[in-house]
Amino acid sequence: MAKPSQKIISELDELRASIRHHNQLYYQDAEPEVSDAEYDLLFDRLLEIEAQFPELVTQDSPSQTVGATGLTKFAPVTHRIPMLSLQKVTTLEQFQDFDRRVRDSLSKEAEIHFATEPKLDGLAVELVYRRGKFVLGSSRGDGQTGENITENLATLSSIPSTLSKSTAQQFPLLEVRGEVVMHKRDFEEYNRKLINSDQEPMANPRNGAAGSLRQLDANITKERPLKFYAYGISESSSDSIRSQSEAASLLKKEKFLLPEPAQLFPDAASVGRQFNKLVELRDQLEYEIDGMVIKVDSFDQQMQLGRISRAPRWAVAWKFEAELAETVLEEVEFSVGRTGVVTPVAILKPTKVGGVTVSRASLHNEDELNALGVALGDRVIIRRAGDVIPEVVRLAHKSDPKSKKIKFPTRCPSCNKEIVRPEGEAAYRCLNQNCPAHLEGSLAYFASKAAMDIDGMGGRIAAQLIERGLISSLADLYFLTTEQLLTLDLMADKRAQNLMAAIDRSRSSSLPKIIYALGIDGVGETVANLLAETFGSIDALMQATAEQLVEIDGIGRVLAESIQSFFSSRQTKALIEKMRKGGVLFPPYEKSQTAGKLSGKTFVITGTLSQSRTYFKSLIESQGGKVSSSISAKTDFLLYGEKAGSKLKKAAELGVACVDEKELLKQIG
Ligand code: IVH
Repeated sequence: MAKPSQKIISELDELRASIRHHNQLYYQDAEPEVSDAEYDLLFDRLLEIEAQFPELVTQDSPSQTVGATGLTKFAPVTHRIPMLSLQKVTTLEQFQDFDRRVRDSLSKEAEIHFATEPKLDGLAVELVYRRGKFVLGSSRGDGQTGENITENLATLSSIPSTLSKSTAQQFPLLEVRGEVVMHKRDFEEYNRKLINSDQEPMANPRNGAAGSLRQLDANITKERPLKFYAYGISESSSDSIRSQSEAASLLKKEKFLLPEPAQLFPDAASVGRQFNKLVELRDQLEYEIDGMVIKVDSFDQQMQLGRISRAPRWAVAWKFEAELAETVLEEVEFSVGRTGVVTPVAILKPTKVGGVTVSRASLHNEDELNALGVALGDRVIIRRAGDVIPEVVRLAHKSDPKSKKIKFPTRCPSCNKEIVRPEGEAAYRCLNQNCPAHLEGSLAYFASKAAMDIDGMGGRIAAQLIERGLISSLADLYFLTTEQLLTLDLMADKRAQNLMAAIDRSRSSSLPKIIYALGIDGVGETVANLLAETFGSIDALMQATAEQLVEIDGIGRVLAESIQSFFSSRQTKALIEKMRKGGVLFPPYEKSQTAGKLSGKTFVITGTLSQSRTYFKSLIESQGGKVSSSISAKTDFLLYGEKAGSKLKKAAELGVACVDEKELLKQIG
């Protein structure tokens, strides 16, 4: 099978963007711009390319969903408590390290139970029950905000629409979290049906589940064999559930399905034995799993352990070994990313690994490439682990003993300027800020949904704008005219107007989005949010010193320096200035001024309070505050209850203000 060329990939991007655009007009605005026949042409071409290169099919391709796709079709839902991800381990030694960290953070006498259960490979969702009624269901999204898919979830028979009276009374608000999956058997049977009726089969059960939940028409979801498995709860009003195992009993009583086998163990060695058992059991389970989740059972201990930016300290995912496959190395491409790093990419004879067809894999960098000692035509072993980009692990068989090794280029494949490998780094970089590949990558990132959200600014458009010299810096985007856009290939009136409108909308993007869009090394959405929250305006952020940045919980020394150096560079200053001139508003960040009364304040909780710690934690967070597990000079308040011990003393030493429940409630009125 041939490999997709860059041209095909760009065409695909364009087609998808354009179909999404027409979907939006047709389904949501009820104002179509093209005839059905024209629309069909686009769609047919999309299907044709995807049939030819199945590895390019993505979950969110318009071919995999119905109607207006993309994030626009479901309303956003902000999770009351963020849906975190999990730290990962892959060996017993790594799990023992986790065990040690947990024990070090808890008091010496503490007895710990680990709750273990399979890690389901599906889609994380949250169900909200108010007074026992299922009222809201959402996808995980980025962890903070997901999509409202209540109607679709309501079609699943494994999701009870009402809870028992006693539970409803005890928990006026109950959030149930879990995973939506397709059983392996059901998946195969459903795929057979699809194939028999000449439709594209789904790539794997996980994609099947994802695609099914993102259907605009809940009747379609209803036909799909989906199952919900519950793995956790959070509730706002009761102290009666004190552990993961108690939560599991409640969920079972309410007729939820739960991942099995779920068991409790007292130490790392017994957890290790359970993991080995699960490896044996894996194939017999009805659903796909990709590891085992281990949680500290007690909620009190979970509270004490707290979390690091995106993951709790009280849980970990012990993942299975990645899956391997053998295939032929057909070509090596050198691609230039948005940061200028030149990465060797293996173009492979397409092959299935862990249920997914792979035709490209990373070769990482020059050292890795040399160490592998591979030549074109050789057979190689590739590995795919979860969602990570597949990689070439080793040579399997040489095709010709005399074949030459692959050489790393000395010049940028895009702009032909010399590339450099800075000392101590593994990567070559193209340092030419005007390098088209470099700029193209930055532009696509800048325009992406999580950044400035400029709909219609697909890869092909970005490439053309750069190629024709219309854009040589990100800020040039804000000086484009409709006339200029009309000179591009495939750009009709309406489309140019839409793009101009999208660019215009992006002028009022929020501060966190702008910070993210700048593409600073190491600054993803979480850090961008932190920066906006802490500094409140772009000017304040630009003047921040590395010392101020390190003060922020979640930002380390290296990142602080990278951020500081980014903002103090002449180039960045010029870019921000030019964006301002182009009409970008850089609105000050509102949350820090108007949101909760505790905004920006860090709390530590100790002692026995009238309600659970989870309750007080949610209360503090709902007012914009943060709760941390250990007390330091950065702590603003210690919330103490009865029998508070060493922390009170420490607070006094550090000069941290101490408040009791009454004072806290008074503060937030
Ligand atoms: S507990 C604070 N238990 O794994 C996070 N997660 O990386 C608590 N997942 O997408 C998560 N099976 O949906 C938990 N038995 C299980 C799970 C599980 C699958 C998923 C979860 C999330 C990811 C976390």
